[in-house]
Amino acid sequence: MPLHAVDYIDVFGPASLSNLGPGFDALGLCVSGIGDMVRARRTDGPGVQLRHEPGAVPLEALQDSEKNTAVIAARGVLDLLGADGGIELTLTKGIPLGSGIGGSAASAVAGAWAANMLFGRPLEKEALVEAVLEAEDIASGGRHGDNALPALLGGLILVSSSNAARYRRIELPDSLHIALILPNVQVLTRQARAMLPDRVSLQDAVGNASELAFLVDAYRCGDWETVGQCMMRDRLVEPVRASLVPCYHAVRNAALEAGAFGCALTGSGPAMFALAPSAEEAASIRGAMVEASLSERVEARGLVAEVNDAGVVDRMEQRARVRQPA
Ligand code: HSE
Repeated sequence: MPLHAVDYIDVFGPASLSNLGPGFDALGLCVSGIGDMVRARRTDGPGVQLRHEPGAVPLEALQDSEKNTAVIAARGVLDLLGADGGIELTLTKGIPLGSGIGGSAASAVAGAWAANMLFGRPLEKEALVEAVLEAEDIASGGRHGDNALPALLGGLILVSSSNAARYRRIELPDSLHIALILPNVQVLTRQARAMLPDRVSLQDAVGNASELAFLVDAYRCGDWETVGQCMMRDRLVEPVRASLVPCYHAVRNAALEAGAFGCALTGSGPAMFALAPSAEEAASIRGAMVEASLSERVEARGLVAEVNDAGVVDRMEQRARVRQPA
């Protein structure tokens, strides 16, 4: 239901894990604990202006507002609304650039939701899908929704690779404990996409299709052991991209030795995630992954995360969720 327009709004765009093993461009998961913040104000002039606050990303890396996904998505929403007047966005990046956990998607959903909220929330999240996909396309060279849709809607999302606006939410029956590391290596999605082969063998394509089907079913059933096995059986993309992450094999082995169900790259990397049997084990697996990365002389930041079912939220909604846990 439309609300009153407000003068300013704070919005949090969460991080997301994508591909999840064999689900290239098809599967993504919204996670807690890290994301981008946008504060938006209405302006009298038209269009979207951008300011930055210091965050995880050096400001000089963010100056090109024409390629900024928060700006592009917010502009898309203003066009949808036929809005009178414009907005100013102040972006605080919590997600490092080129880290593999959906930084451009987090900014896009925050910009889109902020624009919608400023004008009284006339649109539901589902109506913002096109605006965030367009932003992702301009930023990374592909209209893939496996980061943008989970970041917008929350949870685990299956996306059609031929039409990213066609998607389905997979309900998870139980909590999922995730260890995540961000090695200090930058991998640009655009380049990591360009290095993939145009053609693959029928045997590998069939292998991936089968693993992805088992993976989705295992997520739906909460069979984390099978999820762990399937997430390590991508034959098409991860074997190619592993070469971009010098600590890849050491981190993967360390996660498994520390008790993870499975470990894989997220998105185009370098971030890697592992699934753990409990929150405590996720913390020790994270420690083992960071240490393994350091042993390869790659500094890394480790995190423990859970599934974020909410997706993008404005500050008022976030406070209400904290007061009334589900
Ligand atoms: N599915 C995308 C890729 C996610 O792996 O290139 C990166 O944003």
